[in-house]
Amino acid sequence: MSIKNICCLGAGYVGGPTCSVIALKCPEIKVTVADLSKDRIAQWNSEKLPIYEPGLDDVVRKCRGKNLFFSNNIEESILEADLIFISVNTPTKINGNGKGRAADLKYVEGAARIIADVAQNNKIVVEKSTVPVRAAESIANILIANQKPGVTYQILSNPEFLAEGTAVNDLLNADRVLIGGENTEAGREAVEKLCSIYEHWLPRKNIVTMNTWSSELSKLAANAMLAQRISSINSLSAVCEATGADVSEVARAVGLDSRIGSKFLQASVGFGGSCFQKDILNLVYICECLNLPEVAAYWQQVIDMNEYQKHRFTTKIIESCFNTLSGKKICILGFAFKKNTGDTRESPAIHVAKTLLDEGASIKIYDPKVDKEQIDEDLTNPYVCENPENYRKRISIYTDPYTASKDCHAIVVCTEWDEFVDLDYKKIYGNMMKPAYIFDGRKILDHQALINIGYHVQTIGKRL
Ligand code: NAI
Repeated sequence: MSIKNICCLGAGYVGGPTCSVIALKCPEIKVTVADLSKDRIAQWNSEKLPIYEPGLDDVVRKCRGKNLFFSNNIEESILEADLIFISVNTPTKINGNGKGRAADLKYVEGAARIIADVAQNNKIVVEKSTVPVRAAESIANILIANQKPGVTYQILSNPEFLAEGTAVNDLLNADRVLIGGENTEAGREAVEKLCSIYEHWLPRKNIVTMNTWSSELSKLAANAMLAQRISSINSLSAVCEATGADVSEVARAVGLDSRIGSKFLQASVGFGGSCFQKDILNLVYICECLNLPEVAAYWQQVIDMNEYQKHRFTTKIIESCFNTLSGKKICILGFAFKKNTGDTRESPAIHVAKTLLDEGASIKIYDPKVDKEQIDEDLTNPYVCENPENYRKRISIYTDPYTASKDCHAIVVCTEWDEFVDLDYKKIYGNMMKPAYIFDGRKILDHQALINIGYHVQTIGKRL
């Protein structure tokens, strides 16, 4: 029997867009995205979706209420479903064994336990969250230990490769979909059923099947290798600054080699986002547990280089401003971890803002898609600062870049939003304190034009 009813546990950056696209492409399948959070579900059912993704509003508008539903009724959604995606968050553990590195599987375990409690017929359970290798075994153990008579489970691994900011396009035109399953008759049958969903819009050759553990590890490996390219080019940006080479020219030259390719070779203030750091830390932890310390150290260096890059950038800002920011106003352009998303998780802008605040500066922030409440939460939570009020009185958030930069001593570009390229920098210069500085952490501005206006300009990987 083919799949008629899908439920997805977790209405986040992955569950929401993925299931919206499945609903769009599989009109005969009912898709319900269920979440514990009442707020999140209310937003998915409103005109303002909880996440910003180009093209997503259209897809949701076309399907919502027809074959796409967002619900807090997790039990009912599970009960009805033939196939259940687990798309819950898997953050880094903040306490206990493996603290700061291991993936916290409490939400995955919670999802598995609800499924085990509720299910009354056979289910295919699909691990979409990024998990440590062999996590499917833990899910299976929970399900089997609580199995009701007549109910069987198949656990599949189907990691998600969408990137925030391009999620809808990535889902519609996926390079590859990975499906891992058991090499048994029932396992192969479950894999086929999941394949048939993706085959509604993707050619079969893009759907790759493999054993469950390879599939789980492939997701960690892909993120580790993408982040490693960024750390590699960022490490070379330091060499460029020390020698007079230009990292953009080096990246271009290197990327023209078809064995290397040009993507993910853009030097910057450092990578952010909810995945790269957490997934590499998870990989490092797994390697240590497997008694592979050399492998762990190798991947740890990708994270260390990212920290070094963020630190190098903020040190440059402080040193350029006469080694003191006390009483100075600094404008931060961009707070999201990259353009075309409102997501700020692990954004380098948080590190930049915190460092500037610790140096005594007041900061004025503008981002086209990040809400004031989110910035406030990111900069005043207990992991970032001890005295929120001390920070709060020196943080202001604006809805346009011209007011944000007025009376500032410096502008720091933290996100590569397209609109920052075309701002009227002459007008901005007129309203800034002098000397006026721009620190371009994303290498998106026309530096010569800014120098001609009168700015002191600094960027990454190039002496100006
Ligand atoms: P998220 O934090 O945006 O969403 C997770 C949602 O799961 C939350 O709304 C939470 O309330 C909900 N949840 C937790 N426990 C639940 C339960 N028992 N039942 C129902 N809902 C529950 O996380 P995001 O970004 O969507 O990530 C999900 C997973 O996908 C993570 O493992 C992540 O590593 C992975 N991933 C994320 C990508 C991204 O770009 N954000 C890309 C590829 C994979």
